[in-house]
Amino acid sequence: MADISKIHTISDLAAFCKRKGFVFPSAEIYGGFSGFFDYGPLGIELKENIKKDWWKTFVQSRQDVIGIDGSAITNPKVLEASGHVAGFNDLLVDCKKCKFRERADHLIEDLLKIPAEHLSAKQIQKLIEKHKIKCPKCKGPLSEPKQYNTMFKTYVGPVEQDSSVAYLRPETAQSIFSNFELIQKSSRAQLPFGIAQIGKAFRNEISPRDFLFRMREFEQMELEFFTHPKKINDCPFYNDIQTSSVNMLSAEMQNKGKNHKAMTIKSAVIKKIIKNRWHAYWLYSQYQWFLNLGINPKNLRIREHKKEELAHYAKACFDLEYKFPFGWKELQGMADRGQFDLSQHGKYSGKEITFFDQAKQEHVVPYVAAEPSQGLDRAFLAFLIDAYTVEKDRVVLKLNPKLAPIKIAIFPLVNKDKLPEVAMKIYNLLKDKYPIFYDTSGSIGRRYRRMDESGTPFCLTIDHDTLKDKAVTVRHRDSMKQKRVKIKDLETYFLKLI
Ligand code: GAP
Repeated sequence: MADISKIHTISDLAAFCKRKGFVFPSAEIYGGFSGFFDYGPLGIELKENIKKDWWKTFVQSRQDVIGIDGSAITNPKVLEASGHVAGFNDLLVDCKKCKFRERADHLIEDLLKIPAEHLSAKQIQKLIEKHKIKCPKCKGPLSEPKQYNTMFKTYVGPVEQDSSVAYLRPETAQSIFSNFELIQKSSRAQLPFGIAQIGKAFRNEISPRDFLFRMREFEQMELEFFTHPKKINDCPFYNDIQTSSVNMLSAEMQNKGKNHKAMTIKSAVIKKIIKNRWHAYWLYSQYQWFLNLGINPKNLRIREHKKEELAHYAKACFDLEYKFPFGWKELQGMADRGQFDLSQHGKYSGKEITFFDQAKQEHVVPYVAAEPSQGLDRAFLAFLIDAYTVEKDRVVLKLNPKLAPIKIAIFPLVNKDKLPEVAMKIYNLLKDKYPIFYDTSGSIGRRYRRMDESGTPFCLTIDHDTLKDKAVTVRHRDSMKQKRVKIKDLETYFLKLI
């Protein structure tokens, strides 16, 4: 587990990602495109591995969660019902002289070093006046904060007119809600159960920043967990997790200026910091997922939203926060959305969305006790930052082998003497099981260093002794220890390690 101080700035990481082929600025030959990034050969593999593990953990290996894949352009009525058309707004200020634009809360945060995301237009205006804040570019006067809807608008069909306006979805969640009955009935799911989705989301951010942290096009891994409205505490897994501990920063601790502290889930529930047991369970499960994949517990915490921060749909909300090089910031949001969304879609569509409770013979509107909402790109960033380690004479990405883009590198010591033929045989033996990189160029030391920077956990070297003892040298990325392993044992050897 890495010390994050090793990455000095997020720009250092962006430069590393570009050099190694993890992530590129989108359309760089035309000067890039602010808020958009393209994943390169190593990046796509890492991203896919994160997705696969999340999907396997929270969907495929559970009886009570099913998945969907909804469309990214949504019927605008869905987003009217959800409140996004009227209220998915950020506050922006612009310079009256040079026309520079900035998100108002970011301007306050940058200049006054206080959290400002929850502040109203009036509160921000007061701070601008009190601190005589001017345009950071030209020192010109600033406009009053104005509401700005951050959804991307488009037109469906050939005619650009008001009646053909639609939006790119700002969250994947809404197609889960609008399809709820179809999903529940077709899969015969019974409460409590969850519906998950991984897909693109789009937000026309006023000021994209911090590399992959705030983008205009990004990916979400979301899960809506529906319970009977009277059974939000009936969580059969609660007893197994209640004595586990997490780093917790409650709203009260924030109001008193305190730092987070280790707290058991049980204690957070008894103190009514977490108000329903399903919410407690999902917070713990998502927190633990990050730790299982190698995130240093020192870099992860759960922060309760203060009342004034809550989104229009949330009864309660927590962020899983990660200690990024630019401070503790939201990695994942997890709200208790109650019955808001299904009730709204029921109202707007004129078709009540309910679940039939056989035992009580009554229809109920299911209750979303927890909505784990993870930005895939932010998870990607956190795993990379945590894995990035500078040692005496090397940079090494100590990624969990499950996440590593390339699992094994195969090197014939020299490109002659029948060594490449043997190396190719080993490549063919393993290639259907793991992503493998075959490399013959440069000294072995240089080849190791290149793979360290790519996060490859194992390198195999085929040398002249291989021809006699039918064994290869396996070099482990983190310890740099080397082990001689018989070719015939390689498959079982890696099965245990990866
Ligand atoms: N459905 C709830 C929802 O969308 P959110 O807190 O607005 O809640 C959830 O977003 C997650 O999506 C965030 O925790 C973050 O990981 C990711 N996310 C949001 N906006 C993002 C952006 N502009 N760039 C990258 N990731 C973003």
